[in-house]
Amino acid sequence: MTDDRGSEPGSRVAGPASRRLAVLISGRGSNLQALIDAISNGSLNATIAIVISNKADAAGLERARDAGVETLVLDHRAYPSRADYDTAIAQELRSRQVSLVCLAGFMRLIGPKLLEAFPQAILNIHPSLLPAFPGVDAQRQALEHGVKISGATVHIVTGELDGGPIVLQSTVPVRDDDTVDLLSARILIEEHRLYPEAVRIILNGGWRVDGRRFIRTPD
Ligand code: GRF
Repeated sequence: MTDDRGSEPGSRVAGPASRRLAVLISGRGSNLQALIDAISNGSLNATIAIVISNKADAAGLERARDAGVETLVLDHRAYPSRADYDTAIAQELRSRQVSLVCLAGFMRLIGPKLLEAFPQAILNIHPSLLPAFPGVDAQRQALEHGVKISGATVHIVTGELDGGPIVLQSTVPVRDDDTVDLLSARILIEEHRLYPEAVRIILNGGWRVDGRRFIRTPD
């Protein structure tokens, strides 16, 4: 499925109305931690209203609890379809007045129900320089392809897997003696810097989407 809601120039010039975030996770939650840390040190003016995981044992849930953030486990296997699952997530987000959804290692595809509930208001972070190496195992893909530079990307989520408008990217060199673990660790450092910065840009407004392009608009 593709999504072309961003194709109208000037379709969004202001940021979301509130600064209430939801973070969706499936595992470790280090990017969630980066957002928590940026909020607590004052570099990101936002509130995490809810952390939702599709896995009850996601380590990131503990990070949220430690930070006093509400958590919710919604196991996708308990829902008959993706549409039902996405609708349930959307309801939970709406009831908490969430305006921006941050996917942070959330290992589920986002379907039309959730995309329609949060148009241009779902972000994802991906450990490659998109459009190179979308999908799973991006760091392994990059290493095996033999690229000399990889990195991290924050993009707006659309119906195209890892294909939405790019908000920010950061480069990371690939070394001759790299392993997947070493490269992943180096990219992760950039992810943790990039994600709070991208969220800040989105919340502050002054941007629009023109086709695939995310364009910042001067005041
Ligand atoms: C990160 O590499 C992110 O780019 C990818 O999944 C990983 C999640 O890591 N989407 P964490 O759970 O945030 O530590």
